[in-house]
Amino acid sequence: MSAPRQNWQSKLGFILAASGSAIGLGNIVFFSSNAYQYGGGAFYLPYFIALFLLGMPMMMVEFGMGTITHQSLPLALRRLAGKRGEYLGWWAIASALFITMYYVAILGWALGMMLGALGSLFEPGIAAPFTPIQEPTAAPNATVYFFNMISTWNPLIYIVVIWLANLFILRQGTKTIEAAVRIFVPLMWAFMIILVIRGITLEGGMDGVLYLFTPDLGGISQPGVWKGAFSQMFFSLSLGLGTMTAYASYLPKDADQVNNSMLVSFLNCSFEYLAGVAIFSLLFVFALNPAGTTLSLSFFVIPQGINELSSLPWVVRLFGFGFYLLVVLAGLTSSISLIEAPASALIDKFRISRGRALAIIAIPSVIGSCLFALPRIIDPGLSGDGTLGLTLLDITDHWVFNYSLLAVGLFEAIIAGWVFGADKLRAALNQHAKVKLGKWFEYLVKYVIPLVLLLVIVFSLIAEWPELYGSSYDMPGYGWLASFIPVFWIFFTLIFAYVLTRRQTREI
Ligand code: PFF
Repeated sequence: MSAPRQNWQSKLGFILAASGSAIGLGNIVFFSSNAYQYGGGAFYLPYFIALFLLGMPMMMVEFGMGTITHQSLPLALRRLAGKRGEYLGWWAIASALFITMYYVAILGWALGMMLGALGSLFEPGIAAPFTPIQEPTAAPNATVYFFNMISTWNPLIYIVVIWLANLFILRQGTKTIEAAVRIFVPLMWAFMIILVIRGITLEGGMDGVLYLFTPDLGGISQPGVWKGAFSQMFFSLSLGLGTMTAYASYLPKDADQVNNSMLVSFLNCSFEYLAGVAIFSLLFVFALNPAGTTLSLSFFVIPQGINELSSLPWVVRLFGFGFYLLVVLAGLTSSISLIEAPASALIDKFRISRGRALAIIAIPSVIGSCLFALPRIIDPGLSGDGTLGLTLLDITDHWVFNYSLLAVGLFEAIIAGWVFGADKLRAALNQHAKVKLGKWFEYLVKYVIPLVLLLVIVFSLIAEWPELYGSSYDMPGYGWLASFIPVFWIFFTLIFAYVLTRRQTREI
């Protein structure tokens, strides 16, 4: 006999947990590098449109599915659309596992940098075993420090520590999650506000803010910008992986999900813009020019800016430590939700204990996370990512981040809009909502969202042509990774979803 379904102890607890899930590496690490890559103001407008067109309505769909069915994603979709729905749910969960593995690996590196801030991150004279950076540096250099770190086995320890922290927070479900987010979420807001104040009070800091917020109408004619904005919006709002449905399934039936979606999206996007302000002000003041992978901004450029903040070493260390602590806290409140999605799905389907579900997920996933930190150098000239782990991470992220979330969103919208019925969904959401959704919501879910997502996915796939992502990296003996990773991801997730859907659901 299993325990009754758990509940959030308060509405605040749910809002903190859901916004904690949304606010994470995506807001600090990925948003600013995407915004930079696509040209500041050129990104900001499509991103804003994505919020209203896709983000908020899809959050209503995912929250709605959770409270209507009181089930996590696979079984919620099964209620709405039968076995095919469940299959989609497990496919989303499989992708969530991939993302969790590398998300935790990045958090492990952030923990390494946090410790480094107290150690030798801000000291000169480091070298890394890569051809371009073998010479010891005359000044502190975060890029060199980072590559030095990831080419050792140390990050494996950090990754295990982050995994243990996740499992500790998840051990009693909503009760322990709520206790953690009550401390972590306010703390990360406080750190971010301090960082913003420091950034904009630097001379020239406002130029970066202007760059970010001045709309660039020329840039928005490029389809790549829209694709970037839409994928970033899905990732940032934690959509398409089952987390929001799992969290919402612990709410009472009369929860106002229209209001909750607006509140969580608003909190997430405010944090994101604050992070943009903090980071872009540093970039402009110190004329820093990020290049390379998504991680470069937070792992190479920001510490470089922090290093120049003050001539007092303890101030630099304190800010460096504070920045990475912020990244770790924000990331932890997201990674717990990433793990809760499969955990609650297993508990719902097989009626197993939470401890058992967490063990089933953690054992293979810890190994997976460690693979993303393998220190073997396969690209000494740094034409791509340098180590085996970072290369695996970069290529996996490219495929999963850009395609799986949007594909799940596309099918969720079709199921909610056409199979379950957009009118029924709207009526269910409106039943307890203070602000009622108009007929426009039905058009969005039935036509606009599926069409937009389909277009973005098709355009992105066409843009992959003719060269597979990663195949230009100079990695002797490892060139096959560029095609192996996407093929493995597709097959693994499809088979995983098939096997889990076929298994018998244990009724209570
Ligand atoms: N929203 C998180 C972030 O911005 O870092 C990441 C994330 C968590 C994505 C949970 C998806 C998810 F289901």
